[in-house]
Amino acid sequence: MKNTKNSKVNICVVGAGYVGLVSGACLAELGHRVVCVDNDPSKIKLLRKGVMPIYEEGLEQVVKKNVKAGRLSFANSVKEGMHYGGHRAEAIFIAVGTPPREDGSADLSAIEKVSEDVAKNMTGYTVIVEKSTVPVATCDWIEKTVKRHNKHHLPFDVASNPEFLREGTAVGDFLKPDRIVAGVSSKEAEALMRRIYKPIKNSPIVFTSVKSAELIKHASNSFLSTKISFINAVANVCEKTGANVEDVARGMGLDKRIGASFLKAGIGFGGFCFPKDLEAFYWLSAQVGYNFELLKTVKDINEGQKMWLLKKIEEELWNIQGKTISLLGLAFKPETDDMRFAPSLDIIRELLKRGAKVRAYDPISQENARKRIKGIYFAKDAYDCAKDADCVCLITEWKEFGKLDQKKLLSIVKHQIMVDGRNLYDPAKMRELGWTYKSVGRP
Ligand SMILES: NC(=O)c1ccc[n+]([C@@H]2O[C@H](COP(=O)([O-])OP(=O)(O)OC[C@H]3O[C@@H](n4cnc5c(N)ncnc54)[C@H](O)[C@@H]3O)[C@@H](O)[C@H]2O)c1
Repeated sequence: MKNTKNSKVNICVVGAGYVGLVSGACLAELGHRVVCVDNDPSKIKLLRKGVMPIYEEGLEQVVKKNVKAGRLSFANSVKEGMHYGGHRAEAIFIAVGTPPREDGSADLSAIEKVSEDVAKNMTGYTVIVEKSTVPVATCDWIEKTVKRHNKHHLPFDVASNPEFLREGTAVGDFLKPDRIVAGVSSKEAEALMRRIYKPIKNSPIVFTSVKSAELIKHASNSFLSTKISFINAVANVCEKTGANVEDVARGMGLDKRIGASFLKAGIGFGGFCFPKDLEAFYWLSAQVGYNFELLKTVKDINEGQKMWLLKKIEEELWNIQGKTISLLGLAFKPETDDMRFAPSLDIIRELLKRGAKVRAYDPISQENARKRIKGIYFAKDAYDCAKDADCVCLITEWKEFGKLDQKKLLSIVKHQIMVDGRNLYDPAKMRELGWTYKSVGRP
């Protein structure tokens, strides 16, 4: 049954969320035959109707094109997905969620469940590719689980293939990655991973041990979080000294050893990756006997940064009680509808605690936000959001907020106070227009 000559691989992707659906669609785009599986029947129903369950630029076109070409299908169970249309899956990609537990560790129960399902439905040599972000040694557990439930002792390998796509640019990131990381423990698994990714030209594949690959993902996300917290800490020093964090970041970033990316000061990072991966890496390090104190500090700086916004509002309004605060943007970053661990959630909680009346508007994540946030007014657009505001706060730097008619906004608000948590606007221009304007680390 092993088919190493054919370049097309039969793939089953388990978990059709931000990572699984994008990976599945893009693997089909590379020419493979892919089945995406999810245990949420409503998602599969939508996908079969051609409706995307998430907002991701360009995803719908890739999905529709590959469904039409017969390379992409959807299934409700691992059993169905592994033998869809009579084709046996040679590779199973696990892309289910790994949410944080109370203590900061990753909840890996969905990974265990999928491993068990895969073991029970294998009918030949299978490579189980771990794509979710997991702590080092998770693949050892997958291997043990599969062995335990693999009654016919069929051959298999477990590989680690962490995903580095970013929400908002996920399709492009998957098809043109900076690098592909593959942790393998056999020649067969390496050969299959090479076949799968062969159509992606100009991106190096880094083959490592399985454990190194697992660690690369946690180390990468923790390093990027560190860069963000570092520049946010620098922004705080800038504010106290009159320096400009954008100039400082530009001067730093031109040094090739530092690099310009991830040196943008703001109200902190959020989303389903950085906060939980940072936390999980700290937790894992402690488990293996290393106190990775730096990561704790990175987290503390980030938590503090979210509250920067409240400090700025109070500096202008004194008491927040009874005041109307308008929030432009809710998603943790632009071009996504993902509200998981968005800084806006903490900010709104604090504002409500202090008795503010909160109005908010987000171009895309509004519906997801409604499910998570109660007690605020969801506005129709940015202008409706700014109506009678004592203070307008920019939370997410959506492109449309860069093009707002500032004169119109100024005429709608009660007090012309703007706190820009993403340094979207030019301070001089905003002040010239009449705003009392505050931004992060800029005079
Ligand atoms: N979102 C990102 O930008 C991103 C980027 C890189 C890596 N990751 C990692 O990828 C993993 C998935 O993240 P996501 O954002 O795609 O999560 P998600 O919540 O959007 O998707 C997970 C999907 O798995 C499904 N699922 C859960 N248990 C299942 C089971 N037993 N069988 C079938 N389906 C099941 C859920 O219904 C859901 O649709 C996480 O480990 C995350 O850290 C995420």
